[in-house]
Amino acid sequence: MPLPNSKNKFLKYRFMNSSPYLRPYMPETRWMTALSFQQMLTKYKKVIVKPVGGSRGQGVFQVSALGNHLYEVHIENRKYKVRGKRQAFALIKRQVGARGYMVQRCISRADINGRPFDMRVIVQRKTNSPDWVVTAKVAKVAGSGYIVSNIERSKGTILPVGTALRHSSLKGHSPHLLQKNLDRVALRSTFKLKELFPEHRIYGFDLALDRHGRVWIIEGNLFPSRSHFRKLEDKTMLRRINAYKLG
Ligand SMILES: Nc1ncnc2c1ncn2[C@@H]1O[C@H](COP(=O)(O)OP(=O)(O)O)[C@@H](O)[C@H]1O
Ligand SMILES: [Mg+2]
Repeated sequence: MPLPNSKNKFLKYRFMNSSPYLRPYMPETRWMTALSFQQMLTKYKKVIVKPVGGSRGQGVFQVSALGNHLYEVHIENRKYKVRGKRQAFALIKRQVGARGYMVQRCISRADINGRPFDMRVIVQRKTNSPDWVVTAKVAKVAGSGYIVSNIERSKGTILPVGTALRHSSLKGHSPHLLQKNLDRVALRSTFKLKELFPEHRIYGFDLALDRHGRVWIIEGNLFPSRSHFRKLEDKTMLRRINAYKLG
């Protein structure tokens, strides 16, 4: 059975945001128009603009207010400075054309030596089993000069989550508690998404931790790549993912 709108980030956002259990973890997101872009930028000072049908970190912009009506538009490892929100919008519009885009509050993520990171958390169930389990998770550290943590695109680094947390700006927080919160939010997200995709058995969530250690949901993927886990020296998580796939 084909999955309804499984690649449309905006529909998935709206669906997840309709859950009172998930709303506190969802960064506010709107369909991108000149008006919504300006309003979100005024409200949050820093926004992410990304394609509704995108993947692998392609076409993701970060726009920051620098003060004095100056704005920085950051895409890939390039940064542009422009004057005024209209110019910022025009610059993005020139690059994206008619593609559907959304504008989202930018989460000030925890970092490791100035490089932001977020987590990929895999949740699975076995065939005919109702029990969902977090089978694997890794930290994806953005490559130098990039905002997206997608590893191929930004030439970033994969780390075990515990290692990442211990070396990060969150080292004062309990790694155990942070990981527990990540697992809880991933499972809650699964319980919501499974309403839309009842037959589906695997999800991969991009979850961010902000500078205060709070969890945010960046997106839910229905076809998460296993490549992150192949890169780790310890293959335990990869084996568990595969066992659940076959199970
Ligand atoms: N709201 C946000 N705040 C901070 N970083 C973000 C935000 N949205 C996306 N990112 C960064 O960009 C990456 C790519 O965005 P994502 O929504 O996961 O799309 P894709 O399908 O391209 O992976 C994320 O993994 C994260 O590193
Ligand atoms: Mg992603």
